[in-house]
Amino acid sequence: MRAGTRPLAQFSLAHDGARRYFFISWNHRPGIRPGQIWRDIMNVQNPSASRGIAIQAIDLVKNYGTGSNMVHALRGVNVSFERGKFTAIMGPSGSGKSTLMHTLAGLDSATSGHILFGGADLTRMNDKQLTLLRRHKIGFIFQSFNLLPVFTAEQNILMPLTLAGDKPDRAWFDLLVETLGLKQRLNHRPNELSGGQQQRVAIARALITKPKLVFADEPTGNLDSVSSAEVLGFLKRSVNELGQTIVMVTHDAVAASYADRAIVFSDGRIVADEQHPNAEVMNELLMAERERTTRTTLTDTPADQMAQMAGVRNVPDLPITDAPLPPAVPTSGCEGTLRHARAAARHAR
Ligand SMILES: Nc1ncnc2c1ncn2[C@@H]1O[C@H](COP(=O)(O)OP(=O)(O)OP(=O)(O)O)[C@@H](O)[C@H]1O
Ligand SMILES: [Mg+2]
Repeated sequence: MRAGTRPLAQFSLAHDGARRYFFISWNHRPGIRPGQIWRDIMNVQNPSASRGIAIQAIDLVKNYGTGSNMVHALRGVNVSFERGKFTAIMGPSGSGKSTLMHTLAGLDSATSGHILFGGADLTRMNDKQLTLLRRHKIGFIFQSFNLLPVFTAEQNILMPLTLAGDKPDRAWFDLLVETLGLKQRLNHRPNELSGGQQQRVAIARALITKPKLVFADEPTGNLDSVSSAEVLGFLKRSVNELGQTIVMVTHDAVAASYADRAIVFSDGRIVADEQHPNAEVMNELLMAERERTTRTTLTDTPADQMAQMAGVRNVPDLPITDAPLPPAVPTSGCEGTLRHARAAARHAR
């Protein structure tokens, strides 16, 4: 091939553990409409198109920063979300939940991997295509609301329609406003609203266009338990009655129990996937994950660092293990901590 020329097509392989995917991406040449060819190929090859899958991530990687500052927010995630289902995503802070949602919604670019949506690969779309997609097909409820400060609550709710030049469905608008308890606050600007009210405006704005797919990043994070139950009940109804697909991040196991499925995220990976979750099971999964992470952190930390963290200086070379600690010997200060560490080491041998 001559230098500076690009091949007509590029091929890549991916797999999600169960099956392999074969991707062909076309480079533009006069006379060829790459977008159309791409769509045709994906419609044939994309199993998600026929199996009722709303959106699918294949080997999705997202890194932030470079070199020693690089953060691996998504470490090759393979997941699909079924159409007309309500899925909750749980996991510790910083585990990559928001990054997954932002990347799937095309708000943030992926480092590598594929996102299949409606027979196309989102990672190949340009800004204009992504904007149109988000405007008409994907709703997003942001963790930090992202309301426009100079506009009233009503103007914020209607903003996606205003931008698209579409007329609002007044009955739907009224139902949203009524259900979310915003009727008395429609003429207020965001800085005149409480955190919970701003969150409800953000929810109404995401649902006003009746998007088929909604990503909700902690939509009940600022709500009291009654408002929270109302919002979750409303989201569940919009899945059951409107056939919407909702993917919701939450730290609340009770909120997750409204979903049809819950996945647990940890350190950029899925570590559990539960159908028909209930609060008890989710709490147990989260506790188990927290314990596992703590154990990994402890066993990965050298003995001298551990002892220094505990305030002990000049520590002998002690092995740090997973073995349960013996009962602490009641002494005072650093000496006790060091004695305790020695006893633990003896116990472990
Ligand atoms: N723009 C960014 N630049 C650099 N690092 C980032 C950026 N956004 C997120 N990260 C890092 O990526 C990792 C995942 O962040 P993310 O916001 O997805 O976590 P999260 O699971 O949503 O956490 P939380 O529950 O606190 O909202 C974190 O380590 C975070 O510091
Ligand atoms: Mg987040």
